[in-house]
Amino acid sequence: MATQETQPDQSAIEAATMQMVGYLTGAALSAGVMLGSKLGYYKSLAESGPLTAKELAERAGANERITREWLDGQAAGKILTYNASDDTYDLDAASAMVFANEDSPVYLADGIGVIRAMFTDVDHIRDAARGDGGFAWSDHEECLFTGTGRFFRPGYLNHLTPEWIPSIDGLEDKLNAGANVLDVGCGVGYSSVMIAEAYPNATVKGIDYHAGSIDLARENARSSSAADRVSFDVASATNYHGTYDLICFFDCLHDLGDPVGAAQQARNHLADDGIVMMVEPWALDGRAANMDAPFAPLFYSASTFLCVPNSLSQDTGRALGAQSGEAQMRAVFEEAGFGSFNRTIETPFNIVYAARP
Ligand SMILES: C[S@@+](CC[C@H](N)C(=O)[O-])C[C@H]1O[C@@H](n2cnc3c(N)ncnc32)[C@H](O)[C@@H]1O
Repeated sequence: MATQETQPDQSAIEAATMQMVGYLTGAALSAGVMLGSKLGYYKSLAESGPLTAKELAERAGANERITREWLDGQAAGKILTYNASDDTYDLDAASAMVFANEDSPVYLADGIGVIRAMFTDVDHIRDAARGDGGFAWSDHEECLFTGTGRFFRPGYLNHLTPEWIPSIDGLEDKLNAGANVLDVGCGVGYSSVMIAEAYPNATVKGIDYHAGSIDLARENARSSSAADRVSFDVASATNYHGTYDLICFFDCLHDLGDPVGAAQQARNHLADDGIVMMVEPWALDGRAANMDAPFAPLFYSASTFLCVPNSLSQDTGRALGAQSGEAQMRAVFEEAGFGSFNRTIETPFNIVYAARP
């Protein structure tokens, strides 16, 4: 660290200042994105093409002056384009995929609920950091549960059954034949519902230790065509009943206090030839390697507020963190007595693993 006598050069000061200005801008624009989603601004722009502030306000049933200010912020932030000649604002097709189309693989607008929970709970995490580090997932604000579900949903919708499941040898055949599936740490249940919908002979149970998430999962499943084959229960990753052909951990193994215990529990509840499937955030092995990984600042920061405190709030408190990487995941399954562990496919956001006894 620089001592107080060492005066950094002006260009370094400017660079550090502009870096922080960029983060402040990102945070402010993110709040604007959340507002825009709630008011339906992006969807209106995507559906209608360029609009004036008055036209957008009318479509959204919103105050025109606030709408105008929001539009100017979004245009200055280069999310929208402003056309001075006719005083209109436009959301181009690529940006519509990120901000308006909920089913696109790059729809990210609703994931801001996760960031909102980090801000809201910063004092709790400060207190945890001064104590034993523990702060349970279930004690966060509700925006975390819905935000996490919405953050991961586009990835699951576009990759889970089209690519990730087929990447695991023999898994699709098993599901087509009618597998019994357990989705551990299912959160608000999108992954459970998608598996049930894609494989009409499969029966899926989602479990999560957080009762509020299970309530939301039941609500999300209600309108599904597979509602009669998907069910949800409150249960911990280390304590549930039944025998399953497939046990899944979607972005949850690293959150657990006792991932080895959870892997052992899965091993004890697998049917003959059963498979454990894991989806984890994309990461390299070792923190030095991760320092230049594109999503590492987002994942490490979220993990500081969410994954690590949750793990430290539970027995064992292994606290793998969201950037634990393949070697640590493999070690968990080896410790749990699994005979095989493979990385099967990846996207820029995720790595998929399969483990067998
Ligand atoms: C990052 S979220 C992922 C949720 C969901 N799988 C998804 O992909 O949207 C982690 C989930 O693990 C759950 N969880 C944390 N500790 C748990 C435990 N010991 N047993 C079961 N679930 C747990 C949390 O409640 C949360 O829903």
